[in-house]
Amino acid sequence: MAIRLGDSVPDFTAQTTEGEIRFHDWLGDSWGVLFSHPADFTPVCTTELGAVAKLKPEFEKRNTKIIGLSVDPLESHKGWIEDINDTQNTTVNFPMIADSDRHVALTYDMIQPNADATATVRSVFIIDPAKKLRLTLTYPASTGRNFAEILRVIDSLQLTEYEKVATPADWQQGDDVVILPSIPDEEAKQLFPQGFKTHRPYLRTTAAPR
Ligand code: BEZ
Repeated sequence: MAIRLGDSVPDFTAQTTEGEIRFHDWLGDSWGVLFSHPADFTPVCTTELGAVAKLKPEFEKRNTKIIGLSVDPLESHKGWIEDINDTQNTTVNFPMIADSDRHVALTYDMIQPNADATATVRSVFIIDPAKKLRLTLTYPASTGRNFAEILRVIDSLQLTEYEKVATPADWQQGDDVVILPSIPDEEAKQLFPQGFKTHRPYLRTTAAPR
């Protein structure tokens, strides 16, 4: 059964390049990103893990932990990290799960047999501090992901968690936001003293709350 938005994400114990973890304990009070890649020592995956290592400070600014996964064994991950560091000019600075027995991959539906019977697809799960699933993405093996987009979604989730707004297409931090249609104008005037623009009764924009 697929894990759906709003569900509590399953806990698990796993071997990682930074030691054994129990997933929920490892997440603690942070937001989390769990992502799978198809296989070690492959080109697209090498670039992806290098990109994530370079973005680690951006995840940290957002109180977000990030962890990778494939079904390759720990020794393979450790050897491959040296290649990632060399070729991507970085230092892999986040744990990678060695899911050799596939128990995490199967639980999280990361093996999609009509795409590949044995390797994980490129899954992404964004998890909030209550351990609820807030986003899933599934990319094919042939397409490397845009991790800046994952940071953008975290920004949107963290903003809309506390404010009665949503973020429009292609929104970036600092851009105007839209006011939830469920908020009447009178309430919106209180909530957004800086004012808002009514383009249509259901489409009102305002400066992003700080
Ligand atoms: C890659 O990471 O380059 C890759 C992995 C599996 C299939 C195709 C490409």
